[in-house]
Amino acid sequence: MTLSTLTRSLPLLWVFATLPSSFGFSTGPPALRAGVPGDAAGVTCTACHRSFALNPDTLGKVTVTAATYQPGVKQTIKVRVEHPEGKRWGFEITARTATNDQIQAGSFAANADIRVVCGTGPLPCNGGLEFATHTQPSTRPGTANGVEWEIEWTPPSTDVGDVVFYVAGNAADNSSSNVGDRIYNSQLRVKAGGACSLTKKPTLRSLSNAASFGTTLAPNAMASVFGLDFQVAGNSRIAGSGDFVNGAFPKQLGCVAVEIAGQRAPVTYVQNDQINFQVPTIAQTGPVPVSIILNPGQPNELKSDAGTVTMAAYSPGFFTFNGKSIAATSADGRTLLSAAGVVPGGVPAKPGDVVVLYGTGFGFSEPVYQSGEIVAGQAKLRDAYTISVGGTLLTAADILYAGLAPGSISGLYQLNVRLPQSLADGDIPVVVTMGGVASPATATIPVKR
Ligand code: HEC
Repeated sequence: MTLSTLTRSLPLLWVFATLPSSFGFSTGPPALRAGVPGDAAGVTCTACHRSFALNPDTLGKVTVTAATYQPGVKQTIKVRVEHPEGKRWGFEITARTATNDQIQAGSFAANADIRVVCGTGPLPCNGGLEFATHTQPSTRPGTANGVEWEIEWTPPSTDVGDVVFYVAGNAADNSSSNVGDRIYNSQLRVKAGGACSLTKKPTLRSLSNAASFGTTLAPNAMASVFGLDFQVAGNSRIAGSGDFVNGAFPKQLGCVAVEIAGQRAPVTYVQNDQINFQVPTIAQTGPVPVSIILNPGQPNELKSDAGTVTMAAYSPGFFTFNGKSIAATSADGRTLLSAAGVVPGGVPAKPGDVVVLYGTGFGFSEPVYQSGEIVAGQAKLRDAYTISVGGTLLTAADILYAGLAPGSISGLYQLNVRLPQSLADGDIPVVVTMGGVASPATATIPVKR
């Protein structure tokens, strides 16, 4: 996987992709107005649309339609607002666990008709409170009687028990003001169907380190398994913090689990022919069994034929933007380092710069983090290593930090190093060597004076 596929599941690196938050009205109401009792505002649209009391009559209403949910399986829910006098329409919906209305359940997808906003801060909501609302075009000015929106909702990947949808709707008078509009609200409680229902026996073909693509895996390294029938064709799942179990990445995602040396691995992404996961925290080396398990723990569980993968203490490799240019940032994390055109805004490094390089497979850290955990602070590499840049071995003084990336999954490692002053312009290979194993020298950092 490249860093861009990895970052979709890594909270820290989401800083690369912040979106401006907008504050419009008919363009989409503010968050926290879906009428959830525990939400700070605790109110609906009547906070501003005050001509009538909430739910002023029985001629109008807002309804939600949603089915029993299968953990991790996307479904289309429907919101309908109606009133015989309405001429323009709006809504806001959110989904929460039935046991605690301050815990978001799953996530919504935005499109031309649906806008998604977080309770606080910009998208993505990272498992925090999330709301879907109308967009300006989907207020359908001039439409009589009522309108319906379709919203894609992906439930949490694990069974979180019953989920409650809270919705508020506006049957407006099309006056382009907040006067003369009728606001309604309602709730819908849905159960977890629980059952995973994948039907084909999965085929396991190969495994590789997600950064170096080497076939030897190391403890806690990010890795991929390739094969067939891991998901229904066309379906994919990215683990988000809404999927976390006890604060860590889940050991099954989209009804798929990976078992290595008898241990379940945290899964970050699945699609029909690929699973991205983190190798369990095991010191064992040599060949170990691996298998893919669908519908894990259920009567309809399906297991691939067992394969074998070789474990080693280290399998160092750098993530790259494009297979070559190392996933790297400036020391303050604000600028991506790449040759022109490789990533938007990417610039080459200069000799003598401090740069941050991302990789995986560098072995155990101190303190040790378990596979799937999020790194709380600094955790340096436990074992000896060397780093060479353009053939020059870096001295300890030029290695500012070598360890896990704070705020990320425990399989993402970062090296903060000062580039030699003597570097010539060009794509300069960076190589990490641990226990005699070197990372591929095809990974380079562009340097230009
Ligand atoms: C913070 C105040 C505020 C809140 C809360 C608010 N609105 Fe509004 N809304 C406005 C204002 C002001 C307008 C008129 C300006 C505009 O259309 O942008 C408006 C206009 C609208 C319109 C167009 C009305 C028309 O007659 O043309 C719709 C539809 C709408 N809001 C939906 C909602 C919904 C649904 C909610 C609750 C989920 C909501 N609004 C909550 C302030 C608010």
